[in-house]
Amino acid sequence: MRRKLVIGNWKMNGNRAANSALLSGVVAGLNADGAARADCAVCVPAPYLAQCQAELQGTAVAWGGQDLSVHASGAYTGEVAASMLVDFASRYVLCGHSERRAYHNESSELVAQKALAALAAGLTPVICVGETLEQREAGTTESVICGQLQAALDVIPAAELTKVVLAYEPVWAIGTGKTATPQIAQDAHRFLRARLEQKNPEAAAGVQILYGGSMKPENAKELMAQPDIDGGLIGGAALKAADFLGIIHAV
Ligand code: PGA
Repeated sequence: MRRKLVIGNWKMNGNRAANSALLSGVVAGLNADGAARADCAVCVPAPYLAQCQAELQGTAVAWGGQDLSVHASGAYTGEVAASMLVDFASRYVLCGHSERRAYHNESSELVAQKALAALAAGLTPVICVGETLEQREAGTTESVICGQLQAALDVIPAAELTKVVLAYEPVWAIGTGKTATPQIAQDAHRFLRARLEQKNPEAAAGVQILYGGSMKPENAKELMAQPDIDGGLIGGAALKAADFLGIIHAV
């Protein structure tokens, strides 16, 4: 049985005071609820990793980065190495979020190398895939997400697959308020899991595949009830403790 996982993607939002209020609200909500029903984490801008470590250590909330470099160290101005994320006790790192693919031209091959760098450092890469509205309307959803995933499967050793999290995030649903229907999301998740099965049948059954794209407390329950949806990658709704907790409670 796969455990559900809910990850908040703060994107480029936050400041020390607001983060503190948000994190303490989430931790208090989880404590009040007794044993967490889902694993929970926040992926934050790199400058706030130290704050997460200070405020979340010993709580049920893990933390991580939103991107990483493929390089270990050196003359790469502005980049963040996997070892730096580890230095602040990160557990997760997003790889290939659609905003990185769109605004920073990240190719699926680069994203795959980032996932490898994360694994080598002991981090859990959250590999994000998803089609645009144009691609969905053109009927190419499966070939697009298959290509995005395949680049990662080409380089990640089969035995390491158990250490990976996948996120299906249709680009047309991100930040738009338009959520994929549970059936659309389930179909994509089932398709992705079938690709994982081709690589490593035993591991595929254990890989958590998260849905992302306008997930809210109101739609989380139905989405997460689907057999191949193992949690959520939450943008906007992760910035309010009550909404984030509402999604975790929907599990
Ligand atoms: P959203 O973002 O929940 O605001 O749609 C999800 C994401 O981009 O990870």
